[in-house]
Order: sequence, then C-alpha cells, then structure tokens
Amino acid sequence: MTEHLFLSEKGKKASSTLARVDLDVYFEALENRYHPVDNPSGALPMSVAENQLCWDNLKQKFQQITRKQDIPDWVASYGDAAGVASFREAIASFFSEFLFGCPVNPESLACFGGATGVIEMTAFLLANPGDTAVIPAPSYPVYTGDLGVIPGVKRYDLHTHHELEEIQNEISISLEKLEKTKNEIEAQGSRFKLLILTSPDNPTGMIYSEAQLRSIADWCIAEEIHLIVNEIYGLSRFNLDHPQLRESYPDPIPFYSFGKLMHEYQSPLLHHWYSFSKDFGISGFRIGVIHSHNSGLIQGSRNAGLSHSISNYTQWVVQEMLSDHDFLEEFFQKHTHRLTEAFLTVKKAMDEVGTPIQPAYGSLFAWVDFSAFLKEESHEGETDLWLEIFEKTGVLLTPTDGFGHSKKGLFRLVITSLSPNELKLAMERLQEFFKNKK
Ligand SMILES: Cc1ncc(COP(=O)(O)O)c(C=O)c1O
Repeated sequence: MTEHLFLSEKGKKASSTLARVDLDVYFEALENRYHPVDNPSGALPMSVAENQLCWDNLKQKFQQITRKQDIPDWVASYGDAAGVASFREAIASFFSEFLFGCPVNPESLACFGGATGVIEMTAFLLANPGDTAVIPAPSYPVYTGDLGVIPGVKRYDLHTHHELEEIQNEISISLEKLEKTKNEIEAQGSRFKLLILTSPDNPTGMIYSEAQLRSIADWCIAEEIHLIVNEIYGLSRFNLDHPQLRESYPDPIPFYSFGKLMHEYQSPLLHHWYSFSKDFGISGFRIGVIHSHNSGLIQGSRNAGLSHSISNYTQWVVQEMLSDHDFLEEFFQKHTHRLTEAFLTVKKAMDEVGTPIQPAYGSLFAWVDFSAFLKEESHEGETDLWLEIFEKTGVLLTPTDGFGHSKKGLFRLVITSLSPNELKLAMERLQEFFKNKK
C-alpha cells in the first residue's frame, strides 16, 4: 500500500487504524444536517458525545471576558507544561467547591489537551508496554487507542452485565471478580496494572457508590494496582427528584466523588481524571486534568507531556470564567435542568415503544436495548440495524463497535448533541421506525 511507504511499524499501524469507525457516516450526516426550513428531512446526529445544551451561556461569558478585559502578556509566552499556576489554582477551587467537596492542592493537578491527552500520559507513566488496564464493560471505545497507541497498554473488558436488568441499581464489580481477572491476566503473561472506572459511566450512565469505591480502592492498594476514576461526566447528573423520574429510582445511590476519597487516603495509587469537554461542553478547547497525590506522576507528566500542553490563551479565558462562582452556580443549575429534560424526552419515547432504557444517574447518554429489532444476533446484525436507522430516519446513533458489550443490540444515544426540538423530532422518527418494524 502506497500510504505505508516510509513509515515506521507504529506509523503503518496508525495509518491503517481509524480513530473511530463511523467518521465517514458522521461527516455525511453533518453535510446533510437537519434545518426546520432549509432541510426538514435532514440528518440528526446523536453519535458523538458533544454537549450543546449550555453553549449559549458559556459563549456569552467568554465574549464578556474577551471584550472587557485586556489580554495578559503571559499568554504569549511558554508556561508550565502542566498548566500555569493561576489556571491550576482556578481548577483546584472549582473541584473543591463543585465536584469534590474537600480541599484540593493545585500542586496535585496537571492539565493537558483533553481527557485524551491525560489518559495517554497517565497510562504512559504508570504502566509498561504490554501491561493491562481493566475497564468495566461496556465502556468508552476510544480508551483502547488512548491506552494502546503510544503507551502500548492493553485493554481488558470486565463484563458487568449482559441484560440491562442486571445493573438496575449498581454496576457490580465484586472483589472476587477482580481477583479472578487478575489471575487470568497473569496467566496470559501480562500484569493487571490499571483499573479504570468512569463515573457517571459512558455509556451506561451509572455511578459507583461510596462503599464500592472504598472497597475497590482498598483492594487496589493492597494489590499495588493503580485505580483511576474518570469523572469527566461528574457534573452531568440527572435530577432524580424530577416527578417523572423519581419512581424509576426506588433506592438511588448518592453520587460520591472519588476526589473526596483520594483526599482521605492520600495514596500514590489513586488517581482522578477530568475534562471540560462534557460538563462544560467545550470539547474544542481541549482541557483535561490529572489529579493525583503521586507527585512522581504529576512531575513526570510535566516533564514528558510537553506535546500535550494547553494553549495559555485558553487557560486564561477559562480561569477567568471559573473565577465567577455565581456564574458557575447558575450554569450548572441550567445544565442539570436541560440535561434532565433531554433524558426524559428520550426515556418517554423509548417507554412508549416498549424499548428498555437504563435508568441512568448521569452522563450525556441513554443506553437502550434495540435487540428485539436485530435481524441476527451478531456484530453484522448490529451494524445493519445502525445503518438502517440512519438511512430510514436520518438519526445517527453511535455504532456499537468497541464498547465491548456482550449482548448484541444495545445502543448509545447521545442526548445532548441536538436542540430540544430536534431531539423530540429525532424521537418521533425513531418511534415511527420501530412501530413499522414491529
Ligand atoms: C469516558 C471518556 N473519557 C475521555 C473522553 C475524551 O474526552 P476529551 O474530549 O476531553 O479528550 C470521552 C469522550 O467522549 C469519554 O467519554
């Protein structure tokens, strides 16, 4: 193949491995994007985890900052590769007040280009090539590349459920399961080096209870395994007190931030990831954060992460935004309201057509079971259904590739990439499609 000429072995692999399998279809959907007047039968993409719910507020805030304030001179120079001190201080206060509920030392933070940069850097510094990262499955498909391409770390899918009913109130990861997984990995000649939990989870929207986090952290520390909790959706939680949601959660578990447990334990084996891509919906700003009490990890990322640094201009506008506590309070109130409404729109539509949907705690997703509509229970069957839905309705869902789910036919719907009216229309189109299929 000519495109492989002159490339390294890693280069050849990278040039023939797509970051996402659905990019062509996604760009096709964007070119034919729905518009109420100009393109009423156009496409409605619900495949990429973007959050457009509160960009109107944030845009206004950034415009105010850049119009009213002088740009400080330091933004034009090099800075700390892991984030300038004032930026890390602003993030430490934000974490402390809005996510963790405990003090955060800015020196325990390192900031890089999105969660993607942070995941890659953490895996690179904590694990050796050939080591294994265990991730409860199903999970974020791109972890595979973030862990694998540069750090050379393998992903192990630890199955937590087959049917949705199996995770009605919590994702079950018993210590016996972890022990068994460790033995299996070691028998294959690798090492169980990292355990990665995502809370709220992508794609299930589930969270881990304080008791679960404690027992898993104790086990990891005893086994000298690094436990990392990715709270990239930490402030994208649904209002479970909403009268139309309450009865689906008879015994809800409260959200407990891993940052709080880390503060108590001060262990060099516990780490936390965050990003501004989801809760704030600014994926294009590329801001991710590692929080760890392992000073070697923070210093190592500062030394080795130069290529992942965030532009100083971005750090400046974001630190100014974060310094306005009242703005943040209002922003997250609106975000919770709009996010809960979006989840309800999808839940009502799915309930009406009798499609099982996970009673999630948060995230930007609905995790739904379309298995009844598969022609065959296979990956091909899933891909056929995914494409058929897109061709007949214009609604583009996330393809099932790479989530590592054992049952065929479960799909992730991104509930925050469309306006409320567009989301309603997408649900009407899906309902029509499924009614015709029955
Ligand atoms: C669990 C998880 N981690 C990381 C990322 C990547 O985030 P970023 O855009 O900040 O690199 C995503 C994006 O969908 C995600 O869902």
